[in-house]
Amino acid sequence: MMLLDGKKLAQEIKEDLKIRVANMANNGVETSLAVVLVGDNPASHTYVNMKEKDCHDLGIRSLRYDLPADTDEATLLGLIDQLNADEGVHGILVQLPLPKHLDEQKVIRAIDPAKDVDCFTPVNVGLLATGKPVFAPCTPAGIVRLIKANGLEIAGKDVVIVNRSNIVGKPLMHLMLMENATVTIAHSRTADLKEVCKRADILVAAVGRKEMFDESYVKPGAVVIDVGVNRTPEGKLAGDVAFDKVAPIASAITPCVGGVGPMTRAILMENTVRAAENR
Ligand code: GUN
Repeated sequence: MMLLDGKKLAQEIKEDLKIRVANMANNGVETSLAVVLVGDNPASHTYVNMKEKDCHDLGIRSLRYDLPADTDEATLLGLIDQLNADEGVHGILVQLPLPKHLDEQKVIRAIDPAKDVDCFTPVNVGLLATGKPVFAPCTPAGIVRLIKANGLEIAGKDVVIVNRSNIVGKPLMHLMLMENATVTIAHSRTADLKEVCKRADILVAAVGRKEMFDESYVKPGAVVIDVGVNRTPEGKLAGDVAFDKVAPIASAITPCVGGVGPMTRAILMENTVRAAENR
C-alpha cells in the first residue's frame, strides 16, 4: 500500500512558489491575497488561519477581513468591490459557508474572475467546464496533482466521486474528464452506493460522515482519496474513510490528516501566485 503524502508534496509545491513570489518581489510586485471570513464558524476560522500561515511562509501578503456574523449583503458586496478595484490585491477568497442570510452565489458572482483564486465564479466554472480553466479548483486540483505525482494512472480508470458539491464533486468531475477518466458522481440519492463504490479504480470520499467507507465499499487494489474532515467526540480528526480497515486492501490511500488538506492550500497558493503573475 502506498501512502499518498499530501503534506510532503504541498511542501515541494510551496518551495517552488517561494521562488516565483521572490521573483515578482524583485520586479516590485508584492503578491497579495485578501481573505474574507464572515461569522464565527470554528472550522472556517481554522482553515483561514492555515491559509494565512501558508501566505506568510511564501512571502505573500495576506489581508484578512473578519466580519461579524450579522454583516448585511450590501456591506459584504461593498468590501468585494473595493478589493476588486485595489490593484495591490491579486487574489480574493471568501471563506464558505456564509451565514444563512447571505446569498452565497450572489456574493461569489461579485468577485472579479481575474482574482477568483478559488475558481468559484461562473466565468471560471464555465472555463473549467469547457476544458480551458484559468484557475484550478483547489481541492479537486490538489487531488489530481497528488495522484499523478505519485505515478498513478488516471486515464481510462473508473473514478467514483461521492460528492456533488460546487466545491469538490462537480469541479473534480471536470478535471478527471480532462484526464480521460470515466467518471461517476454518487450522492445521497444514489441507489446501492456500496456497489457503485466497489466499481471504482479511484474512489473519492467526501460525505462528511466519520469513517463511513470501510473495506466493504472498496475494490481490492483501488486508490482511495479521503476528503472528509470530521471531529470525533474526543475532539480528534477523523476522515470519511476507515483508514485502518481500507489501507490493507487499497493500492494507495491518503491519510485523513496530511493528505488532501495541505494540497488544497498549496493549490490556493499557486492560484494566488498565478493571479499576481497574470495581473
Ligand atoms: N469552504 C470549504 N472549502 C473551501 C474552499 O476551498 N474555499 C473557500 N473559500 N471556502 C471553502
